[in-house]
Amino acid sequence: MTAAAINGQRLLASLAELGTVGGLPGGGVCRLALTDADKEGRDWVVGRMRALGMEVSVDAIGNVVAVYAGREDGPPVMTGSHIDTVRTGGLYDGNYGVLAGLEVIAALRDADVRTRRPLAVAFFTNEEGARFAPDMMGSLVFQGGMPLDDALATRGIDGATVGEELRRIGYAGAAPVGTNRVDSFVELHIEQGPVLDREGVQIGVVEGVQGISWTEFTLHGVSNHAGTTPMHMRNDAGYVAACVATFARALTQRYGGNQIATVGALTLTPNLVNVIPNKALFTVDLRNTDGAALQAAEAELWSFAEQAAADEGVACERRMLARFDPVRFDPVLVERVERAARAQGRSCRRMPSGAGHDAQMLARMCPTAMIFVPSVKGLSHNVKEHTEPADLVAGAQVLLQVLVELADRP
Ligand code: GLV
Ligand code: MN
Ligand code: MN
Repeated sequence: MTAAAINGQRLLASLAELGTVGGLPGGGVCRLALTDADKEGRDWVVGRMRALGMEVSVDAIGNVVAVYAGREDGPPVMTGSHIDTVRTGGLYDGNYGVLAGLEVIAALRDADVRTRRPLAVAFFTNEEGARFAPDMMGSLVFQGGMPLDDALATRGIDGATVGEELRRIGYAGAAPVGTNRVDSFVELHIEQGPVLDREGVQIGVVEGVQGISWTEFTLHGVSNHAGTTPMHMRNDAGYVAACVATFARALTQRYGGNQIATVGALTLTPNLVNVIPNKALFTVDLRNTDGAALQAAEAELWSFAEQAAADEGVACERRMLARFDPVRFDPVLVERVERAARAQGRSCRRMPSGAGHDAQMLARMCPTAMIFVPSVKGLSHNVKEHTEPADLVAGAQVLLQVLVELADRP
């Protein structure tokens, strides 16, 4: 075990400070990808990377990778996550993984430790997908799973494109994408669910990530007077959207515990009390740890939406916003995480991840694993997201050990 130790105060102070960038009046953060607040957060993190003597590069999709040289050259052992947030984000989602990675480097510097292999800390562009779909966009392009030009051309919910916004905030970098070499990747993240908190377990050893399917539906009906139009003569786009939302919930009950469905965005037009909606734009987020079940749920949802629209005389269009199969992390690395947690006297349990993470993209290119710490009451994507300071520090200490073991292995 290395002599280096996480400085808890320094880690917590850095989380609090980054949390003020894009901070919301009642607590929490709004740093949607590639906005001015994201730029400010990026500049702040890059400043810390440079202060630690790391070599910083920015690639063409705006991913930032900072390398702490090893005794030998070669592909780095990498950690990291994202610093973009949803509109109503907390201080820890993503930011914790990035700042804990930098705290590991600071701790190694304090203890005058140089690992054999280089270490890298990265933050990836647009992990959330809340402004531009798909989510995990930066890590997907980094890995070579999405052509750069397609990503740059992606239009967000406010009409701007990824490419325009990257240039505007000065993060359309020079480093190429899709040709990167990484020795291994370990992402530290808050659980964002209730399991560890409820069971009183300190560390989650993440075995994989469930599959994700995001569909955007656009329904076109006919606006008419809400008082005069007989029920059988309506082409009500809002009604069909409500039917699909109800169907999605019922579908999760039929499929059982691992099937998740969320209608998270819904806009009716013209959105007035006495006008039948002529348009409904809404999203359905389906997830399942079982890829085949997810595919079946998706097919059922689509055919229900088409039928419900046809029954109401409403046109139905759909667009796939994101689609990722379930991922299994590297069993040897997963075991290494478990051993490190136990060696530090932490209680731990194996678990899948309910949320999407950059690690699921990195898993396509190198041995990958994740470490979870508890989220109080399982709250995340919520300004009340919270993890106890002692748990944040404990997770970072496990990360430190795993990174040093990987970087020093023969
Ligand atoms: C990303 O945070 C997701 O899982 O939606
Ligand atoms: Mn996250
Ligand atoms: Mn998130």
